[in-house]
Amino acid sequence: MKGEGKITVLAQALASQVDIHAETGGVVPDVAAREHTKVIGPLIRKVIRESRVKLQDVDAIAITVGPGLMPALAVGVQAARTLAFALNKPIVSVHHIEGHITSALLSAEESTDVFPALALIVSGGHTMLIRVDDWLRYRVLGQTRDDAAGEAFDKVARLLKLPYPGGPQVSKLAEQGNPEAFAFPRPMVHSGDLDFSFSGLKTAVLYALRDNPGVNNSDVAASFQAAVVDSLIAKTKQALDQDTYKTLLLAGGVAANKLLRDKMTELATQENIELWIAPLELCGDNAVMIGQVGLIALTAGRVASWQDVDAQARVPIEAFSVRG
Ligand code: KG4
Ligand code: ZN
Repeated sequence: MKGEGKITVLAQALASQVDIHAETGGVVPDVAAREHTKVIGPLIRKVIRESRVKLQDVDAIAITVGPGLMPALAVGVQAARTLAFALNKPIVSVHHIEGHITSALLSAEESTDVFPALALIVSGGHTMLIRVDDWLRYRVLGQTRDDAAGEAFDKVARLLKLPYPGGPQVSKLAEQGNPEAFAFPRPMVHSGDLDFSFSGLKTAVLYALRDNPGVNNSDVAASFQAAVVDSLIAKTKQALDQDTYKTLLLAGGVAANKLLRDKMTELATQENIELWIAPLELCGDNAVMIGQVGLIALTAGRVASWQDVDAQARVPIEAFSVRG
């Protein structure tokens, strides 16, 4: 690592809307936006108070500008713009996936030479393999063509009548099941590229449940989880075979999945490559990972005035990549 490394977290807070979304079985954009508007002010006040930092002493404000749900992103971006205007400070725009990548990067030991790294990012909105050549330098090698891995977990949870968010519930149920009970497809494993697809797998689960009344749900959960993890591991191995990397990174909400963590660890051992996984508490979305990127990007000169920062619902990570 080249010193961009460790940051000190003075305070952090998370306002989860999981309970609210559980009632509707998923995220309803208007509801999410209303909740964001309600909590953002008190949340900022709370972390500032806990950090004991004077607002005037802040150098810059880092904010996730995208990708994501526009109504929710817009609330965060507007809050950052207002603060930046009032304090006369610059804004550092951060791409959501940069945050996930960096949460794994910063768990690497400081003596480790990490780049080039291969990052597998698995969340509710994204499934991506990314080549990371340096801090802030990314190239997407493959991504999902339809559902993200976490989205597949959430949809299968719904089929199994489990509450939202489904990932943790499905993996808990899977612990008691037989992963070989159903031979679900390993999507895209032979597609010849590094893309993923999970919507067909979800349909296979739907048919398995329909055609096997009285089936043991834990067997379905275990077989589904095995299929998702196998296809993630197969594509990661193919990416490793195609190029030379110093390290392997795993992050995003689904990186909390125990089977995936174990299989990635096995793969890294087989391939003789160092693996860094985001700490459990930073796998899911959080502000610390955005602050981490913010600090690194600020040092690299990525600053903007409040007038020039907008939320972008669909923005590729390469738009944030420095050339080199
Ligand atoms: O990164 P994240 O918090 O939000 C997005 O950027 O989407 O990821 C959330 C996703 C959800 O789909 C959730 O079901 C999934 O991560 N997830 C899991 C586990 N924990 C969370 N999926 C599988 N196994 C888990 N243990
Ligand atoms: Zn995320």
